[in-house]
Amino acid sequence: MSPGSPESPVPYYGPDFGLLLRRDPEAAEVLLDELDRLRDGLQLIASENFASPAVLAALGSTLTNKYAEGYPGRRYYGGCEVVDRAERLAIDRARELFGADHVNVQPYSGAMANLAAYAALLQPGDTVLAMALSHGGHLTHGSKVNFSGRWFNVVAYGVRRDTELIDYDEVRELALRHRPKMIVCGATAYPREIDFAAFRGIADEVGAWLLADVAHTIGLMAGGALPSAVPYADVVTFTTHKALRGPRGGGIMCTAELATKIDRAVFPFVQGGPLMNAVAAKAVAFGEALRPEFAGYAHRVADNARTLADALATEGLRPVSGGTDSHLVLIDLRDVGTSGAVAEQRCAAAGITLNRNAIPYDPEPPTVTSGIRVGTPSVTTQGMGQEEMKEIATMIARVVREPGAAGEIRQRVMELTRIHPVYPSEL
Ligand SMILES: Cc1ncc(COP(=O)(O)O)c(C=O)c1O
Repeated sequence: MSPGSPESPVPYYGPDFGLLLRRDPEAAEVLLDELDRLRDGLQLIASENFASPAVLAALGSTLTNKYAEGYPGRRYYGGCEVVDRAERLAIDRARELFGADHVNVQPYSGAMANLAAYAALLQPGDTVLAMALSHGGHLTHGSKVNFSGRWFNVVAYGVRRDTELIDYDEVRELALRHRPKMIVCGATAYPREIDFAAFRGIADEVGAWLLADVAHTIGLMAGGALPSAVPYADVVTFTTHKALRGPRGGGIMCTAELATKIDRAVFPFVQGGPLMNAVAAKAVAFGEALRPEFAGYAHRVADNARTLADALATEGLRPVSGGTDSHLVLIDLRDVGTSGAVAEQRCAAAGITLNRNAIPYDPEPPTVTSGIRVGTPSVTTQGMGQEEMKEIATMIARVVREPGAAGEIRQRVMELTRIHPVYPSEL
């Protein structure tokens, strides 16, 4: 079926919100309220973004109906010839974007991608060297409440107390002492560039696999705003919904040598049938990231983060490590005398959504924390730039110190979001 010309109606069956409104007003109201929340506030959660209408169209498509266990051309169900094309498109585009030998686009999420990577390379009880959660690592890098910490012997490295940068000497010493089978680099709350070549060198020295979990930074890698992990790591896991601006989901890239192991680890070891609507949406997102404009976006995200970090510092809110090379800034609030939890609430009252976050060597428990984490992917997608970042820094600093200013700041937040609307109503 041809997609039709822009003038003629497209013979497509897709999301009909009017129908949902009539059939299930209660659920429809939730969707509308969430849209209002997005439109009326500033979204500074570093791991979020606004997927494009094209990505949303693919997600809301009839591909959600299809069972397609297996891989293109090798499925355990009939009728997969069309969805095979979606998966091939996603794989081909990701390979072109990142120059990877092999890509698996089926992981349901970043955590599933990591579980599959561990399963492909390790046996339970093996030793893994990964970044401490309290210094910015992810749950899947060794938390006791996660499969990684329960099934593997995870040794943690961290950042130096003085520079708050990864201590590569410590990584090497720990690697030599514990002889891990795998080293994990990549983080969830580390603002600085990661030296993948240094990690590769250490992994080679001890004969370990190198897993780069670039869930957070894959979008900046795609746009050339941060160096790629692909030439250095044996396996690269990622998410598609953060700076990359695609649907919620995950993916894995690896060397040709590991392709079969990774594919078998994703299916049938960790997952069942892939979410083919999400796979199609990943293809759309990779296609968008291949366009020249995306490089501009990725660089603006990083520039905005730098400006935000500098402006927060000027306001007396100290960026951990002194700044950022990426899309996120981690702020130490100890000098302000406010916990991360309280700052999160005060900002929320002003329509600014961000999250509390542990800072390295945090004296507070994880539910309280001494820090907040802010990210620029969403506000950059809305078209905000350096001037807005400076104003946002002033607003955060003010409301964190002066909760009574929340109402006034909320008004200004609304004005900013009217100038830079997310999902403009006319679309
Ligand atoms: C470094 C890292 N890895 C993995 C994940 C997990 O991603 P998901 O929430 O899609 O499972 C995250 C999520 O924030 C992350 O930051």
